[in-house]
Amino acid sequence: MKNKVLLVLMSLIWTIMVMMSCTYQVAEDLLPPPSLIPENNEKYGRRWFYYAQVNKSGDYFRRMFIDSVSAQIVKNTGNIPENALFAMETWFGAGQSTVYIRQKKLQWQSGSFSPNNPDYAVSLNLSCNNCHNRASVSDQTFTKPLLVKALQRNQVQVIECNQSSFNPCDLSVYQGN
Ligand code: HEC
Repeated sequence: MKNKVLLVLMSLIWTIMVMMSCTYQVAEDLLPPPSLIPENNEKYGRRWFYYAQVNKSGDYFRRMFIDSVSAQIVKNTGNIPENALFAMETWFGAGQSTVYIRQKKLQWQSGSFSPNNPDYAVSLNLSCNNCHNRASVSDQTFTKPLLVKALQRNQVQVIECNQSSFNPCDLSVYQGN
C-alpha cells in the first residue's frame, strides 16, 4: 500500500516537472522572430530600424538597431550620417541583458543602459573605440554591411559568429549572406 502511494506521488512529481519544462519552451518561443518586418520598431522611447541578429557562442546573441531617420539616409546615400544612433541588445536565450549604444558625433561616442531604464547619454569611451577601430572600413561599425543588406531586402539579417561576448569575428563574416 505504502509503495503504491509512493508510486502515485512520484508520477505526480514527474508530470509537474514535464509540464514546467514545457512552459519554459513556450517562454523561449515568445521571442520575436527575426523575419519580422524591421521598420519602425517602437522601443526604449524611440523609433528604430531593426537590421541584424548576430548569434554568438552558446545561447548568446545580439540584436542591432539604428534610429529610423538615419536608416532612411543610409538607404538613400550609403553613408552613416552625423548623429546616427545605434543600439545593440544582448540576449542569453530568452533573458535580456544590457543595451549598448553608439552615436556618431565628430568622433563615435558610447553609452549603455538596462532595458527597462533607457538612457541616451553618450561620451567618448576609448575601450569601445579601440576595438571598433578594427572596422574602420565600415565607419567603425562591424555591422554596416548587414545594415545595408537589411535596407535593400527589408529583412533582418541573421549571421553566426562563433565567438564569446565582445570578441569579433573576421570582418568578412559581417558581410552576411
Ligand atoms: C573587443 C571588441 C569590442 C569592444 C571592446 C566593444 N565592441 Fe561593440 N561590437 C563588437 C563586435 C564584434 C560587434 C558586432 C557584433 C558581434 O559580433 O558581437 C559590435 C557591435 C556593436 C554595436 C552595433 C553596431 C556596430 O558597430 O556593428 C554597438 C552599438 C556596439 N557594439 C556598442 C559598443 C559599446 C558601447 C562598447 C563599449 C562599452 C563596445 N561596443 C565595445 C566588438 C566590440
